[in-house]
Amino acid sequence: MNDEQKRLAVDAAIQSNISLEGALLPILHQIQNDLGYIPNQHVADIASALNLSRAEVHGVISFYHSFTTSPHGKHVIEICRAESCQAMGSEKIEAALKHKLGIDYQQTSDDGEFTLNAVYCLGNCACSPSIKINSQMHSRLTEESALELIAELKRS
Ligand code: FES
Repeated sequence: MNDEQKRLAVDAAIQSNISLEGALLPILHQIQNDLGYIPNQHVADIASALNLSRAEVHGVISFYHSFTTSPHGKHVIEICRAESCQAMGSEKIEAALKHKLGIDYQQTSDDGEFTLNAVYCLGNCACSPSIKINSQMHSRLTEESALELIAELKRS
């Protein structure tokens, strides 16, 4: 999608939601759904349409983990950071994957292959620690098995 198409998608999201009470969230959701992310260069347009500051819009985008300001990678990894998974060692998996991929949460690796997101319970607590990759659940992981999953995806 080129820049003009992105601009049209942002305009359409603004126009179809601007009359709603609390229009910011529906606008952001529609843009996230249509483009896969919320382009930074259009935050000013959204802010201006709603009479908000850019900082306010950025604040909402960064508060919700479902919003991103960069395109997703080919593989989206969701790491559960909720209590059960933390108790079973998810922090080690988190550190290992961040180190291996060279990215933090809500970032995409330079090769465009991996996006890392934090989630708060995947509904798979009995099999903690859990992560999801491209909608597929992986359970009872260790640092080694999580890194092996990444290696497999790189080989595929
Ligand atoms: S706490 Fe991780 S899946 Fe529920």
